[in-house]
Amino acid sequence: MKKTITVLAGDGIGPEIIPPALNVLQAVGTRCGHSFEFVPAVVGGQAVDETGWPLPNETLKVAGSSDAVLLGAVGGPKWEGLEYERRPERALLGLRAQLGLFANLRPAKLYAELADASTLKREVIDGIDVLVVRELTGGIYFGTPKGVEATPTGHRGFNTEVYTTEEITRIATIAFETARKRRRLVTSVDKANVLESSELWRKVVTEVHQTYQDVELRHMYVDNCAMQLIRNPRQFDVLVTTNLFGDILSDEAAMLTGSIGMLPSASVGANVGMYEPIHGSAPDIAGHDVANPIGMIASGAMMLRHSFDLGKEADLIERAIQRVLAQGYRTKDIESPGTKLVGTQEMGRLIQSVILNDPSVILSEAKDLG
Ligand code: IPM
Ligand code: MG
Repeated sequence: MKKTITVLAGDGIGPEIIPPALNVLQAVGTRCGHSFEFVPAVVGGQAVDETGWPLPNETLKVAGSSDAVLLGAVGGPKWEGLEYERRPERALLGLRAQLGLFANLRPAKLYAELADASTLKREVIDGIDVLVVRELTGGIYFGTPKGVEATPTGHRGFNTEVYTTEEITRIATIAFETARKRRRLVTSVDKANVLESSELWRKVVTEVHQTYQDVELRHMYVDNCAMQLIRNPRQFDVLVTTNLFGDILSDEAAMLTGSIGMLPSASVGANVGMYEPIHGSAPDIAGHDVANPIGMIASGAMMLRHSFDLGKEADLIERAIQRVLAQGYRTKDIESPGTKLVGTQEMGRLIQSVILNDPSVILSEAKDLG
């Protein structure tokens, strides 16, 4: 298989976590006979510095005509004072909207080796495997009217939470379809006791559920869900929710697993999927080779699975990550007593080398690849 992948390294730790991810993908290519061509383009603060805009047309064009997009991270203090339209974060919103990526999949799965890195007790988090399905191109992130306007006494800032039947139907469909491949339980999260848009959300999700009677549907208010996620996260399989609630709950779900640096995400919906770790650009640690590249590397695995239908190859990456953790290697964010501290690039090399050289992990699987 031959694929062209747009690589948007972006800002902060983005340029540090991208190379390990590309090396790991190359290793999979070598091992399994695929060829991946990586086409870099500028995005975020880097693009603002070079072109004045966070998402140059050229970048959008390159991304839209490739087979998938890998994104590191965008943003940093340097660009915080800019008007909204020029902020690095706008690039993300632009890519999501322009590429039609209405569904964001954020799996929070605990690697058993990291149970002690979590701030929660082992007995609470043992075995958690939650998938947050976040609506990504609607809701208050994109609703109009929005703005800040002058009033006689000061200012008035406003945004609009808005969802249509079509938007809710398509994200609910993704949630039910995904749940069918998992434990067949969907928890839909809303604020239907207060918000009209949530009332519609709940009604439409319930209607879509009619055609998925083999999947269990539960409804939960977002405040309760925030609490239940730390009280008893094992009760969840697939969580489906709005753009804003999903933004918040996916950070919370990520932290259950020990470090936000571990978690990948997939943004899908149209032809070209985009894959990025769920963490940000972490400017405070950028440039020191201490960032955890695993979320980025695992995003590459999600790309193989969701965009290229290379499930076995994605498994290889995930198994290699697990193997390296089992060998005791840790980046700083997941370090615990008795483990071996390594930097960003070294962690990448270790995972890459398992894929290339470790027959005990790989060969039986590789055979299945034919
Ligand atoms: C995320 C991030 C983004 C979001 C920001 C950087 C725009 O927090 O992907 O979760 O809010 O969607
Ligand atoms: Mg977020």
